[in-house]
Amino acid sequence: MRACRRLPVPHTPVWFMRQAGRSLPEYLKLREGVPMLESCRRPDMIVEITMQPVRRYAVDAAIFFSDIMVPLKAIGVDLDIKPGVGPVIADPIRDAQGATRLRELTPDDVPYVTEAVGGLVSELGSTPLIGFAGGPFTLASYLIEGGPSKNHDHTKAMMYGAPDLWANLMERLADLTIAFLKIQVAAGASAVQVFDSWVGAVAPEDYRASVLPHTSRIFAEIEALGVPRIHFGVGTGELLGLMGEAGADVVGVDWRVPLDEAVGRVEAGKALQGNLDPALLFAPWEVVERRARDVLTRGRTAEGHIFNLGHGVLPSTDPDVLARLTDLVHEVSAAS
Ligand code: CP3
Repeated sequence: MRACRRLPVPHTPVWFMRQAGRSLPEYLKLREGVPMLESCRRPDMIVEITMQPVRRYAVDAAIFFSDIMVPLKAIGVDLDIKPGVGPVIADPIRDAQGATRLRELTPDDVPYVTEAVGGLVSELGSTPLIGFAGGPFTLASYLIEGGPSKNHDHTKAMMYGAPDLWANLMERLADLTIAFLKIQVAAGASAVQVFDSWVGAVAPEDYRASVLPHTSRIFAEIEALGVPRIHFGVGTGELLGLMGEAGADVVGVDWRVPLDEAVGRVEAGKALQGNLDPALLFAPWEVVERRARDVLTRGRTAEGHIFNLGHGVLPSTDPDVLARLTDLVHEVSAAS
């Protein structure tokens, strides 16, 4: 929390995107026979899965176990999360009629979120809980394509060719994200992260025209809640400045841009989060250690630094490497 606010810290804090999930044997065991979206509706499971990495690693934050698709499911969009595939939408949204299916989200739509956050806050004690939601471009891409997409063909066809429809859809998705974040903060989450994972597919001028107004509104609406706001995407090297402009307190950086270079791209007054390549964890420990030290050194040039991977933990990652990495980050940063 202090690093988010660019205050002095005893050591560089660390957590991992996707720390709760597929790489942990205790997670796989618990999830046996329970579909992904079902597990996101069961407060006991949410609490247990969120706590698993906190117990295993000395991470400085928990990330709420849920998915960016959960609020869409909660307002009645017919979708599923298929193992090994990702989110799949039964009836993709391609026109104005489709957009009207996105109604507002209320706390009554997700009572299990409120209950699980409350349970977690008391179990976590002084460890902060990070709530999250999907960014509007990333949610739009799943909804418009109907599933995961490499080129975002239909999404960009709408963004370029039907700007009024695009704006309408993005406004509804931003409303959904704002509501989902507010519910988590009201229940006790200490910070929030917006995952606009696939927005790196957009060129800067198109980001400014077609995405920034919506992400800016999200961060402006959350500001009054007084919790730190983190903004993350993949492949966003050319967008880091604009993502800073969108108004979050912390900008997440993937592994492609060194943190000291990212400092020059993001406006002053921001902390940075990142950015070890998740695939680096498959290299021998000596290599992991050298590269983690390098991330810490470069991170020192930022006004605040939260150590993380440049994207989520990959499913076949050895949990022992994450444990060792967490300890290394704490030791090295406390000593310098
Ligand atoms: O970070 C965490 O540990 C908290 C939980 C979390 C999940 N999804 C659980 C999950 C978070 C923060 C997310 C966010 C999310 N979901 C994003 C943004 C982050 C990113 O990785 O870029 C995106 C794009 C999604 C959509 C989604 N859900 C994808 C692409 C997948 C992977 C499909 C697959 O299996 O390869 C999911 C499923 C999902 N979400 C799993 C988990 C633990 C795996 C499902 C399973 O274990 O059955």
